[in-house]
Amino acid sequence: MNIDDVKNIAVIGAGNMGHQISLLSAIRGYKVVCTDVSEEILKKAEKFADTYLPGRVEKQKLTAEEAKAARQRISFTNDMEQAVKDADYVIEAVIEVLDVKRKLFAALDKIAPKHAILATNSSTFVSSLIADATSRPSKVVNLHFFNPALVMKLVEVVKGPHVSDETADSSFKLCERLDKVPVLIQKEVEGFLLNRIFKVISQEALWMLDMGVASAEDIDKACVFGAGHPMGPFRLMDLTGIDLSYTISMGKFRQTGDPTDRPSPSVVEKFIKGHYGEKTKKGWYDYTDK
Ligand SMILES: NC(=O)c1ccc[n+]([C@@H]2O[C@H](COP(=O)([O-])OP(=O)(O)OC[C@H]3O[C@@H](n4cnc5c(N)ncnc54)[C@H](O)[C@@H]3O)[C@@H](O)[C@H]2O)c1
Repeated sequence: MNIDDVKNIAVIGAGNMGHQISLLSAIRGYKVVCTDVSEEILKKAEKFADTYLPGRVEKQKLTAEEAKAARQRISFTNDMEQAVKDADYVIEAVIEVLDVKRKLFAALDKIAPKHAILATNSSTFVSSLIADATSRPSKVVNLHFFNPALVMKLVEVVKGPHVSDETADSSFKLCERLDKVPVLIQKEVEGFLLNRIFKVISQEALWMLDMGVASAEDIDKACVFGAGHPMGPFRLMDLTGIDLSYTISMGKFRQTGDPTDRPSPSVVEKFIKGHYGEKTKKGWYDYTDK
C-alpha cells in the first residue's frame, strides 16, 4: 500500500507506548482509534490526551486549533473490531508475550481491511515470529518506537524476509510523516539495533550493581556526565519498565537455558516487589512525590 493511501491508524494497546503512539499520530494528521482490553488504561490514555494537548498549546508547540483538531482525530474504544474496521495501518503495542501477539495478529487479520499493514512495536520479537499467524505476511512488519514515543525521534523499521518492499517503504515513510527518524534494519536480528547496544551497557551496569562496585545512582551519573548519555541505564529502565526488562530476560533464559541470559538478581528482586519503575512510583528511584 502506498503511503498516500494511509489515512486511518489503529493502535492496539494503550499502555506506556500505545497511548503516546496514538496521540503522536493524531497530532501529525492521522485519524486514530486506540483500543485496549482494559477500560482503566483507556481512560488513563484519554485523560493523558486531554492534559497533554492543552499543555502543548501553553508551551506554544501547537496552536489551539491544531490541538483541537488532533483531539477530534483520536478516539478510544475497547471494541477492537470497531477500532480496526477502517484502518489502513495497525500498530500493535500490547504486552510483550509472543503467544498473545500471535493470537492478536490472527484476529486482526480477520477484522482489518485486506490492504492494511499490521505492524508490531515489539521490543524483541521479529515480525517473522508473528507474520505466519496471518494470511498477509508480506504486510506484517516491525515498527519499533522508543519510549517516550512522543519525544524519542528514532523508529526502527525491520524488513524481515517476508516483508514486501512496499510495506517497508510505506512504514519508513509513515515514520517520516510522524516526524520521526526511521532507520531500516535489513536483517532480522534479536533486539534490533539500538537495544543490542543498550543491552551490553545495561548488563555491565547491573553486574557492577550486583557486585557492589557502585550504586545505581553513581552508575547513572557516570553515563550521563562521562559519556554524555541523556540518562543512565537505571533511570532508563525505570522509564521503560523493570517488568519489561524482567520479561525479556526471562523469556530469553527460558529459550536458551544460558545462565548469562537470566535476569540479574537485583532485577528479580524489583520484579517480585512490584517495583517496576515510574509506572508503579518505585523502581531504582522513588517517584512517590512525582
Ligand atoms: N516500554 C517501553 O519502553 C517500550 C519501548 C519500545 C517498545 N515497547 C514494546 O511495546 C509493547 C507495549 O509495551 P508497553 O510498555 O506499552 O506495555 P504496557 O504493559 O504499558 O501496555 C500494554 C497494554 O496492552 C494491553 N493489552 C494486553 N493484551 C491486549 C490485547 N489482546 N488487546 C488489546 N490490548 C491488550 C494491556 O491492557 C496494556 O494496557 C511491547 O511489545 C513492548 O516490547 C516497549
